[in-house]
Amino acid sequence: MKFFIDTANLNDIQEAVDLGVLDGVTTNPSLMAKEGIKGLDNVMAHYKQICEMVDGDVSAEVIAVDFEEMVREGEMLADLHPNIVVKVPMTRDGVKAIKYFAEKGIKTNCTLIFSAGQALLAAKAGATYVSPFVGRLDDIGHDGLLLVQQIVEIFSNYGYPTQVLAASVRHVPHLIQCAEIGADVVTCPLSVITGLLKHPLTDSGLATFLADHKKVNS
Ligand code: E4P
Repeated sequence: MKFFIDTANLNDIQEAVDLGVLDGVTTNPSLMAKEGIKGLDNVMAHYKQICEMVDGDVSAEVIAVDFEEMVREGEMLADLHPNIVVKVPMTRDGVKAIKYFAEKGIKTNCTLIFSAGQALLAAKAGATYVSPFVGRLDDIGHDGLLLVQQIVEIFSNYGYPTQVLAASVRHVPHLIQCAEIGADVVTCPLSVITGLLKHPLTDSGLATFLADHKKVNS
């Protein structure tokens, strides 16, 4: 399973890189805004900086909503760095753009997936990744993990190469259940990745080992 970090924060990205387990990055316009990145030149420079920090795919989202503009923006993003994956929303124009990018050999991540039908459509158009939003479905009383399970099963039934990128993963149990289901990738904040480190019995066990060692070595 691949681990992507869902942030535009360079410190968090560096911390995940340093841990040695990071396979890629996802960003979105809200995450870029959270870091105060504005203006085309700054946005492009920020994506480039992320690409240079990480050996893996970096999703950069188009802002355009019509096909021609999506294509123009996506090609500009893809030209920036080989790690760039063009993130495209699940809309009619988005599906057309995914098809266009697939034919040009440009990688895509179809975002804002909330149904199995949307995921199927994106896979048929040739998306590299589909991003079902687990947490946002849970937020409205639906079962986000069930959607991930459905998509994994459908793609496996037909051998679609599109990877299931479980997004909006909010806590450790989400991540573990995505792994059990067989999602290809999860994207989540740094706190979820570092949350995997933690167990109280590890902490108390290590404290005991060190204390016992000290007793006979001091
Ligand atoms: C996916 O690529 C999105 O950036 C992200 O996972 C959304 O997560 P959120 O619902 O916690 O904002």
